Amino acid sequence: MRIGVLTGGGDCPGLNAVLRAVVRTSVIEYGSEVIGFRNGWRGLLDDEATPLDIGKVDKLLTRGGTTLGTMRAAPQALHDGLGRTRQVLDDHGIDVLIPIGGEGTLTAAAWLSDEGVPVVGVPKTIDNDIDCTDLTFGFDTAVSIATDMIDRLHTTAESHQRVLLVEVMGRHAGWIAMHAGMAAGAHLILMPEQPFDVEEICQLISARFDRGDTHVIAVISEGATPKPGTMELRDGGIDEFGHRRFTGVAQQLGWELEARSGKEVRTTVLGHVQRGGTPTSFDRVLATRFGMHAAHAAHRGDFGNMVALHGTEIALVPLKEAVARLKTVPPDRIAELSAFTG
Ligand code: F6P
Repeated sequence: MRIGVLTGGGDCPGLNAVLRAVVRTSVIEYGSEVIGFRNGWRGLLDDEATPLDIGKVDKLLTRGGTTLGTMRAAPQALHDGLGRTRQVLDDHGIDVLIPIGGEGTLTAAAWLSDEGVPVVGVPKTIDNDIDCTDLTFGFDTAVSIATDMIDRLHTTAESHQRVLLVEVMGRHAGWIAMHAGMAAGAHLILMPEQPFDVEEICQLISARFDRGDTHVIAVISEGATPKPGTMELRDGGIDEFGHRRFTGVAQQLGWELEARSGKEVRTTVLGHVQRGGTPTSFDRVLATRFGMHAAHAAHRGDFGNMVALHGTEIALVPLKEAVARLKTVPPDRIAELSAFTG
């Protein structure tokens, strides 16, 4: 059999571990060949094919990023995306394609599957917002990095009796903010799921300093928004993929809080450091299991599905269901936070 593989969307620690597992499983267990396509869907349409053998993926387990390169592009939106995809896959004799990616990549995979192209998807995102899987690899690494950074901010905030705001990734879901915030003992966690009220935040700041606390640490998802009418947030408009462009919610909130609370406020934006470097051991294992099970599903002919983590088991779920909605933080998890923050 010939297996095609590509990585799409933003990079994520663990992508290389998936590639390694897809190649090792396909070659060792089935005697198959694996062809990688560089630079996501764009690269597939441009026929940027590169054969992957065991030697090429040998040292990839611990390496961050993706050796195939990646790009944000949707074949549905590219000229003759379907015809060109079919042609390139035919030219290389590909029996099944394994796209590894987030919401955009998997939506494209579901569309191709509907059009009769054999695909098995692998979910990836540090944001952990893909539905129908308990976790995605990359999330644990991002949370560990963010936690470490927030731990460090406590001491400098205490020393200066300051309010420190930390912006983490998460366009649509607050999973990174919630987990890193809980792990690092943040006093306030703001997420896209629950619009914030600036006056309530000022009250929390005053209450903490009034009772003798030395500092405030707030963790803010990049996708958090104020309650309508409480603060004017400068908007960056919509990008070519229909996503809101962010203009630094934490920075804007920081200026507002400093003006209203009279306290010194500083803002740290963690940005792409959360996606860089080697994956945690948890993510290496999850990525390896995803890659291995995707290769098994491809060889069994279980097309149109995505590998997923259910509890401790790897399951297969229909791609269509997985991309129907994003997985945001549910209200009961948000409610739990009152015991940890404040
Ligand atoms: O991978 C998802 C994500 O990390 C989002 O949280 C973030 O908004 C986005 O990627 C940033 O993407 P880019 O690297 O294209 O700027």
